[in-house]
Amino acid sequence: MTSSVRTICCIGAGYVGGPTMAVIADRCPQIQVTVVDLNQARIDAWNDADLSKLPVYEPGLDVVVGRCRGRNLHFSTAVEGAIAAADMVFLSVNTPTKTKGVGAGQASDLRWIEASARQVAACAQGHTIVVEKSTLPVRTAQTVKAILNAAQGEVAGVGTPKSFSVLSNPEFLAEGTAIPDLESPDRVLIGGEDSASIDALAGIYGQWVPSERILRTNLWSSELSKLTANAFLAQRISSINSIAALCESTGADVQEVAHAIGADSRIGSKFLKAGPGFGGSCFQKDILNLVYLCGHYGLHEVAAYWQSVVDLNAWQQHRISRLVVERLFGTVTGKRIAILGFAFKADTNDTREAPAIRICQDLLEEGARLAIYDPKVGDDQISSDLGVPATQDLTTQQSAEGSWLTCSTPAEAVKHSDAVLILTEWASFASLDWKQLAPLMRQPAWLFDARSIADRSAAEAAGLHVWRVGCGS
Ligand SMILES: NC(=O)c1ccc[n+]([C@@H]2O[C@H](COP(=O)([O-])OP(=O)(O)OC[C@H]3O[C@@H](n4cnc5c(N)ncnc54)[C@H](O)[C@@H]3O)[C@@H](O)[C@H]2O)c1
Repeated sequence: MTSSVRTICCIGAGYVGGPTMAVIADRCPQIQVTVVDLNQARIDAWNDADLSKLPVYEPGLDVVVGRCRGRNLHFSTAVEGAIAAADMVFLSVNTPTKTKGVGAGQASDLRWIEASARQVAACAQGHTIVVEKSTLPVRTAQTVKAILNAAQGEVAGVGTPKSFSVLSNPEFLAEGTAIPDLESPDRVLIGGEDSASIDALAGIYGQWVPSERILRTNLWSSELSKLTANAFLAQRISSINSIAALCESTGADVQEVAHAIGADSRIGSKFLKAGPGFGGSCFQKDILNLVYLCGHYGLHEVAAYWQSVVDLNAWQQHRISRLVVERLFGTVTGKRIAILGFAFKADTNDTREAPAIRICQDLLEEGARLAIYDPKVGDDQISSDLGVPATQDLTTQQSAEGSWLTCSTPAEAVKHSDAVLILTEWASFASLDWKQLAPLMRQPAWLFDARSIADRSAAEAAGLHVWRVGCGS
């Protein structure tokens, strides 16, 4: 399958825009791809000669970017020129939950989508296919079309009159596995009304995705499918976490339960891992958006159903922090707790909505001293997430206020701690040497394994009390 598209502009050089366009450029060397962003620092990082400094950490991304950058993949802040030159423009800007005004706390804030649609309307030349790559509330394409239609027919310079076609092409990649997800997607979804434009986009993906995996729907089904996919995935996490709590109370083991139910092909084995709850920029935001839409259409019972998935997630996080306090004799004031992992999942530097944020904030509120180690997340990010700056030295601090600092190795974090709390499933945590670590801790010492990743019997053999999520025995 070939495509008539020769130049692509992607607005938004974030976790989705950067990796997605890198893979398109890699697989379609005949297409010039320019990723633009208003954020100069982010663009500079994408252009950094040192590929370990790319602003997004994803395994394999550096290799793909290294292959294409400067050839047919470009990162720039020159938004207007890139739009003017493009046959196809992807909108891959952020769509966070609104923090104020109508729908605050639930609806998506569409100001960046609207601004980028207006930029496309102003700068595009000739015919332009506009692709919604951001996750959007169902029927947003109507707004995008209305903005573009207002500029339809205008002539820029000596060119042909402007015309637009709008497609929805939501992104299903998961952070941490973005490159394999993009290179070998379960499916690509294209929603639209104009078959020539759908064919043009399908032709791009057709360079490496088998045609039976390229699904075509109407615009609204495509927009709603993305919200629904995330809602179903998050629902599985909340479901298994609810059962994990029951396992802990009854002597059952959630790993055994998950294995037993996952063997049923109607249920399937994936996404049945109990843990500290879901995080990331998408699940909560997209479900809240679904809740808002259901409320808007008067479907209040449906809204309440999906709201409970988010509520259970927050409950699970508070449950874990409460449980840590209870096991540490009812108080963590002044106690040092090693936090292993801050990113919302392994193999990413993204901390948006990370379970670690809520759990660490709870423990800080209780006066704990947190020694945080994450292989990819640094002080500045943690400070902005926790809303408190790092302290210089946990040991000399006198007040009963909570405090934190980061450590450069797990051993440094664990030293003198009363407890270790594992919050991200970084593979290296599976092989931590508890025989070596346990003696560094103040006894009696605890391991709280919220990711079921540590070697439990080795930790117990080293004298630690161990709690593992969902394990009642
Ligand atoms: N992160 C994920 O795993 C994931 C997966 C699937 C879908 N999505 C969706 O994709 C969209 C983007 O997510 P993200 O994680 O890449 O966000 P992000 O915040 O990492 O990146 C968005 C970028 O857009 C830029 N931007 C905003 N307005 C702009 C404008 N007018 N002109 C130029 N640049 C502009 C911002 O500066 C920012 O760098 C969201 O709708 C999200 O829900 C995200």
